[in-house]
Amino acid sequence: MSSRNRVDIVHGVNLDMLGRRPAEIYGSLTFDQLEQQIAGYAHELDLEPRFFQTNHEGMLVEHLHRVEGLADAIVINPGAWTHYAWAIRDALEIAALPAIEVHLSDVDAREEFRRVSVIRDICVATVKGHGVEGYRTALTRIKEELDL
Ligand code: DQA
Repeated sequence: MSSRNRVDIVHGVNLDMLGRRPAEIYGSLTFDQLEQQIAGYAHELDLEPRFFQTNHEGMLVEHLHRVEGLADAIVINPGAWTHYAWAIRDALEIAALPAIEVHLSDVDAREEFRRVSVIRDICVATVKGHGVEGYRTALTRIKEELDL
């Protein structure tokens, strides 16, 4: 197995509440089930996933500060922070790894405030509106990006 296959799967605020959020928007998986599915996709693709979720913005910032040497790429769904958290954008830039933004829902087809993403332009790609399947797309894209 390649040594450049470590992918950090980062979830932000309220994603741990999946299962209690509107199923018609986010699907019916619990957060644990979501992470298990993503782990399955990663292993199928010979990628090594590492998972992190927090509801505290500073903890996400510090996680990104420490990612150097521990991961080769990032898949990130920051939740509502996507739309306004400039500190997370700066921390993602500092992490300096190829990153893909993922949203379970189609953020561009919902409320106006969800159309803004402060990280989109520093990510390799954005995958939105495909539920958990979107993570498979993101991981496939990451694999290409890492030349694996
Ligand atoms: C989300 C979309 C965000 O607008 C929302 O605040 C979330 C989840 C998604 O995965 O669709 O918490 O990132």
